[in-house]
Amino acid sequence: MAAINEVTDLTHDGDVAVVTVDSPPVNALSSNVRAGIDTAVKQANESDATAIVLICAGRTFIAGADITEFGGAAKGPSLRDVQDTLENSNVPVVAAIHGTALGGGLELALCAHYRIAVPSARCGLPEVNLGLLPGAGGTQRLPRIVGVEKSLQMIAFGDHVPAADCHEMGLVDEMAVEGQLLEDATAFARRIVAEDRPLAKVSNLNDKLVADPQVFADFRAANAKKFRGFEAPEAIIQCVEAAVNGSFDEGMRVERELFTGLMEGTQSKAQRHLFFAERQAWKIPDVPKDTEVIPVESVGIIGAGTMGGGIAMNYANAGIPVTIIETSQEAMDRGLAVVRANYERSAKRGRFTMEEAERRIARIAPSLDMNDLADVDMVVEAVFERMDVKQDIFRRLDEICRPGAILATNTSALDIDQIAAVTSRPEWVIGMHFFSPANVMKLVEVVRAEKTSIPVINTTMQISKRIGKVAALVRVCPGFVGNRILASRRQVSDALMNAGAMPWEIDKAIFDFGFAMGPFQMSDLAGLDLGWVKEESAGRTIRERLNELDRRGQKAGAGFYDYDENRTPTPSPITEEIVREFAAKSGAEARDWTSEEIVERVNLTMANEGAKILEEGMAIRSSDIDVIWVHGYNWPRYWGGPMFWADTQGLGNVVARLEELTAAEGDHWAPAGLLKQLAEDGKSFSDF
Ligand code: 3HC
Repeated sequence: MAAINEVTDLTHDGDVAVVTVDSPPVNALSSNVRAGIDTAVKQANESDATAIVLICAGRTFIAGADITEFGGAAKGPSLRDVQDTLENSNVPVVAAIHGTALGGGLELALCAHYRIAVPSARCGLPEVNLGLLPGAGGTQRLPRIVGVEKSLQMIAFGDHVPAADCHEMGLVDEMAVEGQLLEDATAFARRIVAEDRPLAKVSNLNDKLVADPQVFADFRAANAKKFRGFEAPEAIIQCVEAAVNGSFDEGMRVERELFTGLMEGTQSKAQRHLFFAERQAWKIPDVPKDTEVIPVESVGIIGAGTMGGGIAMNYANAGIPVTIIETSQEAMDRGLAVVRANYERSAKRGRFTMEEAERRIARIAPSLDMNDLADVDMVVEAVFERMDVKQDIFRRLDEICRPGAILATNTSALDIDQIAAVTSRPEWVIGMHFFSPANVMKLVEVVRAEKTSIPVINTTMQISKRIGKVAALVRVCPGFVGNRILASRRQVSDALMNAGAMPWEIDKAIFDFGFAMGPFQMSDLAGLDLGWVKEESAGRTIRERLNELDRRGQKAGAGFYDYDENRTPTPSPITEEIVREFAAKSGAEARDWTSEEIVERVNLTMANEGAKILEEGMAIRSSDIDVIWVHGYNWPRYWGGPMFWADTQGLGNVVARLEELTAAEGDHWAPAGLLKQLAEDGKSFSDF
């Protein structure tokens, strides 16, 4: 074994040289890895090896460029240098793939002369998820092998394609037997030599590079909604167009130029921030890595309503049997019918077979008797939001459940300490705040109460991961983290409306910023009468007035907007008149509001609330708040989250604007102490 450097070895198996990369966790192309491969291949070329196998140790082939090095000074050979070394090797190079060959890893493998993979391997160019495009020839080489349409799909969506499909497309030349990649790759390399096969260069292939220009127009049109706001997909399409319309070198030039533009832009910075934020969120300073994970093999859900049913589906999807509790057969039947309809819809869309849907449904056992939860490992309570009801349930759970069962509540706002206090085991009580629809939305806010034990926190985070969620740990405060910031957004939106901005103007500004809908459309969808008490309603707010006119939202055919029979919203003259009336009463000067002003006010408030949350220790880090807003409220990924947004503005500017607004409109705009401190120190939230 000859070490080339600390992450690369060069060995010889008879006449075949083997270059092994061993750079955990994912063999990313750090400067060390690039230098190691470059030197090893050059050395192998100088030896009497007749072929070279490039393989990786550990869990995966090279998973891409090293994202942690982005933005830093370039060191050692560039990826393109290493690609040239591989492509110009005087003996055939075989890339041997297990795990994932992603991004720069696949782009490097595309410069080997041949590729072999085990069946469990996957290949992909997922740079789009980082707001980038494959910047090392991926957009030029992939279409030369798989054709234009397949490469558009693979690159613009970042699909991880299974090895068997790659083999069928010609991206992988040979399949290896699982568990014997090195042996099969070496044998394949010998066969290539014995058969005198050429030093195949993907860049020389041209016959798949034909496409009617309509293909690109159709692809753009078909995906316009999904790509809205994102810069990378359009740049990717332009690169593939360049592959079809010009020479390889010209295509590479276009790819480089567009890659550099994206790399320097805010969107990619935001999406890279989220890549790390999503991984960071699992790490909890006072929960050491070796903390016990309590086995959870059965779960009870209380409530078969919209939330309970959706939560049950998450567990059933992960293979965990669920006992679901309702108080009446009628409510149970209604809830389970919705669960069944959801599964059938997914099966019809081809997400899984109908048999699989039936298997999942069969994992959900209905019961009208809470005593059936005596032996479960975990309970998630999902009944409606009333403290006395929840406390009553937890008293009963305390009597029924075996010691050592985790008792979780799906409350979205209630004080979990008060819920835990009615049990004799508050250390086993925790919050699991799912977002609606719970079977679709990725986020779970895991809420640690005052006395929740460390193993219970750890297990709840782990189980959230197991059921496919993105979790962030928060503490108990009104609305926790997500809804507390949502409330601040609603307040500022209402204030804008009271000052004469029309709900649809505000919604449009928020939509154009990248949300699926604005706060007033959201209110109409949820129902304006949420929390409205008819008897107490006295026309004090615009919402009260609308409710009094029976404009209770979409379900009533009218709310802030008017709705037709297809639930298409149009601005309502009635709402407009009420808004004008309130604005006149408030003494607000009649003026037009620009989208920029609206977005700025909304985001400033959200970031300021986030700063207060951090200051009070309710969230661990600012990036967790970003994760919560991206996965729980569909904050546009390319804006990184409200805290990242504030960082991009510069916290000094954020504080200055908040102070201007405080002077003009009052103390509710006053910047949080933490925000002022960070700004004074020239720092950003990401430094906190
Ligand atoms: N660079 C640096 N670190 C990386 C990395 C990368 N490309 N990919 C993963 N990591 C790190 C993660 O941050 C994580 O670190 P942590 O343990 O300190 O939190 C660790 O590796 C393990 O990652 P995961 O937790 O994600 O492990 P999984 O097993 O769940 O997933 C994976 C593995 C599928 C490889 C996933 O990590 C992944 O999708 N990685 C990113 C792949 C990617 O986007 N590649 C393209 C990079 S850009 C590029 O190549 C540009 C080129 O075109 C020029």
